[in-house]
Amino acid sequence: MADFQGRAVILTGATGGFGQAAARHFAKAGAKLVLSDLGSERLDALADELGGQAIAVGGDISDPELSERLVKKALSEFGRLDIAINNAGIVHDMMPLPRTPIEEARKVIDIDLMGVFYAMRAQLPALEQRFRETGETGAIVNVASVAGVVAAPMLSVYAAAKHGVVGLTKSAAIEYARRGVRVNALCPSFARTPMATDFLDRAGKDRAAAEAAMVQAIPMRRLAEVEEVIAGMIYLADPASSFVTGQTLQVDGGLSAS
Ligand SMILES: NC(=O)c1ccc[n+]([C@@H]2O[C@H](COP(=O)([O-])OP(=O)(O)OC[C@H]3O[C@@H](n4cnc5c(N)ncnc54)[C@H](O)[C@@H]3O)[C@@H](O)[C@H]2O)c1
Repeated sequence: MADFQGRAVILTGATGGFGQAAARHFAKAGAKLVLSDLGSERLDALADELGGQAIAVGGDISDPELSERLVKKALSEFGRLDIAINNAGIVHDMMPLPRTPIEEARKVIDIDLMGVFYAMRAQLPALEQRFRETGETGAIVNVASVAGVVAAPMLSVYAAAKHGVVGLTKSAAIEYARRGVRVNALCPSFARTPMATDFLDRAGKDRAAAEAAMVQAIPMRRLAEVEEVIAGMIYLADPASSFVTGQTLQVDGGLSAS
């Protein structure tokens, strides 16, 4: 297991499928966590479960002020920021591009793309400052999607937002390559989280067919387990991957290679 002893981590989307698993993994590996999600009892319960190692800060990631607050909290509570996992996100229902409601498209872009921009805008200066003061490098992992590197027909705005996250990731990685911050994007295909199961449930009586089509697109012919996705996240966050920056890591059962 990677060692995150004493490192301070911001984790957004903390009560979701990937978020909860990641929070538990980082806490077990010794990290201190600023957990964020839309304000909820689940967020407080998760922070309580992790004890003194975690604090909860509720808020909406499409509000730029939240990202500033998360960085300030890491510095005031833990005296440092080492890692940020920008994981909060939503997906819209499958629909042809011309039928995608404009309001729905704006919401997806605001949360999935602008949310990551606001987060990195607040995190990069703090991570750079720590590097200048201590020589310790930091890492940002943006949770994009395989829809950030290949087409996602009927999910065009989600794909656009996630391609945007990949663009932000690569550009920031180059800007900060000699300034002590690595920036990478994790690109999973469907895994069994509430996002994926709710998405399938909305297919109603066509649920089985929707899941079968999803699995059919994946060379391994199955969905990912949450832990398989978290393994990729941990790899990118781990200081041991010190020469890895500006990359997308597809955890997708081979989908993007086929
Ligand atoms: N599950 C998958 O199959 C899959 C595949 C590829 C990419 N992803 C990406 O992984 C990330 C995590 O997804 P997940 O599968 O754990 O989904 P999830 O729905 O279980 O978790 C997402 C979390 O983000 C939070 N969130 C949503 N809107 C928010 C907002 N405006 N402000 C703050 N928090 C907000 C939700 O409350 C939720 O807890 C997302 O960015 C998603 O796009 C998921």
